[in-house]
Amino acid sequence: MEKLALHGGVPVRKDPLPLFEVNLGEEESKNVLEVLKSRKLVQTHGIWANKFGEMIKDYLGSKYIVLANNGTSTMHLSLIALDIGPGDEVICSPLGWISSGTPSLYQNAIPIYADVDPEFGFINPEDVRKKITSRTKAISVVHTWGLPADLDPILEIGEQYNIPIVEDAAEALGASYKNCKVGTLGIFGSFSTVWNKIITTGEGGFLVSDDQFLADKAKHYGNFAKVPGKGDYFDGLGYNYRMTELMGALGVGQVKRIENNISIRRENAAFLSKQLESLEIDGLQIPKEPNYGKGVWWKYTLLLELKQFCASRDEIVKAIRSEGILCDAPVLPDNLQPFYQNHQIYGTTKCPWDCHYYTGLSLVDYSKMCPEAANYSDRAIWLTGCSPSLNRNDLDSIIHAVEKVLKWYKIN
Ligand SMILES: Cc1ncc(COP(=O)(O)O)c(C=O)c1O
Repeated sequence: MEKLALHGGVPVRKDPLPLFEVNLGEEESKNVLEVLKSRKLVQTHGIWANKFGEMIKDYLGSKYIVLANNGTSTMHLSLIALDIGPGDEVICSPLGWISSGTPSLYQNAIPIYADVDPEFGFINPEDVRKKITSRTKAISVVHTWGLPADLDPILEIGEQYNIPIVEDAAEALGASYKNCKVGTLGIFGSFSTVWNKIITTGEGGFLVSDDQFLADKAKHYGNFAKVPGKGDYFDGLGYNYRMTELMGALGVGQVKRIENNISIRRENAAFLSKQLESLEIDGLQIPKEPNYGKGVWWKYTLLLELKQFCASRDEIVKAIRSEGILCDAPVLPDNLQPFYQNHQIYGTTKCPWDCHYYTGLSLVDYSKMCPEAANYSDRAIWLTGCSPSLNRNDLDSIIHAVEKVLKWYKIN
C-alpha cells in the first residue's frame, strides 16, 4: 500500500489542485477593457449589464430579470417583493450557504429550516409539510451543490397552502428539472455569479421571474426604492444592490460559453463516478444525478459510511488534501450556526425571535431542527468543483488520491 503523504509519503500531486478554478476567456478581458475605456461604470449609464440580463433571460426562458450585486441580495429582494416581514416564517434549506436563509432575518422574519433527504441534501417535502404554520409566508428551496431538487412535491405544497416558492439556484445555473431550467419554476429563481459559480462576474447575481409586478418591485427595492422621474424621492426602505457594468461585461463573455462548459462539467462528473465505482470501496457513496433532471455539478460530493473507515471524515479530508487534492468538508448546516443557538443578531436583544409580532414559540430551538442535515454534513466531502478546465491528468490524480487514502483507512 502506498504510504500517505500525510505520513511522509510522496503526494499524488506536487502542484495542489484547488477545489474551484475561475474559468475566464479572452472575451471577458476584451469586454472589461471596453467598459473601462467607456468610463460608463454603472448599469444605468452603460449597455453591458443590460446585455448580460437579456442573454440570461433568453438562456433561461424567463420573462423578467433583476440584476444584482450578489446572490444574497437577490434572496433578500425576493422576500421584500413578497412582503415578508415581522411575525412571518420562511421555510428554508439548511445545506447550501448561510445567506440562503438569513435574508429572512433582514426582514425581521423567522427562518425555519426543513430537514433534508439523506442522499442529495435537498429539503425533504415531508418535513416541509410538518413545518408549515399559519405564519409560513414563503418556502425557499436550494438546488444543492448544482443538482436539481425535486420541485414538484414542493410546488404542490405551495399551491395547496398558497405559499410562494423561491428557488435558490445560486449553485445550479443551467441545471434542469424535467426539461425546465431550474430557477424558472418557482415565483422567483435566485442565482449567484460569485467567483466560484457556474458562471462568474466576480461578485454578482440575478433574480428571474415571470411575474412582472414582483420583478419590478424587487428591482425597485434593489435601487434604493427611488421613484423614477421624481428626483431624490424614495417611497420605501431600499438598498443599493445594483450590478455594475464591469460585472455585466464579464457576464456577457461567460454566458456565451455556458452550455459548452456545462457539458464538460457533466463529462468530468461522469468520468469521476465511473472510475470511483470501479474502485469498489465499501462505505464510499458516489453522488448520483436524480433521475428527473440534469445537474451542473458545482460540487462533486462524496458521502462516507464512517464506520467502514478507521479515521474521521476530517482526517480523511486532511489526508486527501495532503495528496495535493484540495477537497473540503461542508460547514455546519445553517441552523447549527452559533447565532441561531443564542438568538442574538441585533445588538444584545433577541429580536426578531422575541418580537411581539411573532406568535410562534418565542425562542425557536434550532439545535435539533434538521438531524438528517447534520448527519449528511458530518459524512460529506466536497471532492472537486468539476471545473471545465480540469484535464485528464487532474481527474486521474483525484481518483488516485481518493483510492490511496480510502484504502489506507479502510477497515477490512
Ligand atoms: C445556495 C446559495 N445561496 C446563496 C448564495 C449567496 O450568493 P452570493 O455569494 O453571491 O451572495 C450562495 C453562494 O455563495 C449559495 O451557494
